[in-house]
Amino acid sequence: MPRSTWPACAGAVCIAPSLLAADFGHLADAVHALEGAGAERLHVDVMDGSFVPNFTFGTDTVRALRRETSLPLELHLMIREPERHLETFAAAGADGITVHQEVSPHLHRTLSAIRALDCRSGAAINPSTPVTELHDVLDICDLALVMTINPGFGGQRLIPHTLHKVAALRAEIARRGLSTEIEVDGGVDVTNAAECAAAGATVLVAGTAVFGHGDGPAAGVGAIVAALSTAGSPTIPPQ
Ligand code: DX5
Ligand code: ZN
Repeated sequence: MPRSTWPACAGAVCIAPSLLAADFGHLADAVHALEGAGAERLHVDVMDGSFVPNFTFGTDTVRALRRETSLPLELHLMIREPERHLETFAAAGADGITVHQEVSPHLHRTLSAIRALDCRSGAAINPSTPVTELHDVLDICDLALVMTINPGFGGQRLIPHTLHKVAALRAEIARRGLSTEIEVDGGVDVTNAAECAAAGATVLVAGTAVFGHGDGPAAGVGAIVAALSTAGSPTIPPQ
């Protein structure tokens, strides 16, 4: 999907289910279960066993997912030297590619290269990385990903202080009149989704909360959507 035709979130906030929490033996079923269920994109975690202590999907899996769905595929590359693999992932069917600031010494160049491939550009920061590290690339960044856990595994608890980084980033994006999306990733569930949105996140990644739902992934997405709409006026926890 060309970057120019990427659909904006239907509402103020959209859900990006993370396939990391799906049954890898039945990925196609997982994808099909999410179609028409309120998921507006799929989040695909690529890990290299070096930048993060785990391995997951590669280009062949992305190619297979592409055959199964027309939902936008956003790749979250948790790999060293991501710039070496952009073309391959784009050719495999990625619609968006997010790289980590911590392994991108030439982040501006890498984000520009992602856009040159007609993919949506994303930049991610770990919980220990200051949010100001993203300021100088926001104008070429379609999506800023604030990790709410230390990357590598699903099923962890959201680290509360990261929501203050989301709020600070939201203020910076508003001050400059940019349209950069803010995504949160890690430990997002029905208990904190509204807080994430209140902090300024517009895309919520959810793995365990979606695929661990007793009534299936569509119900998992629905539960988060419901939590967002029924929350009163949530505030983020004090720092
Ligand atoms: C972890 C990944 C996340 C992960 C989130 O490094 O980037 O996308 O799937 O999983 P949950 O929602 O279970 O924390
Ligand atoms: Zn992720």
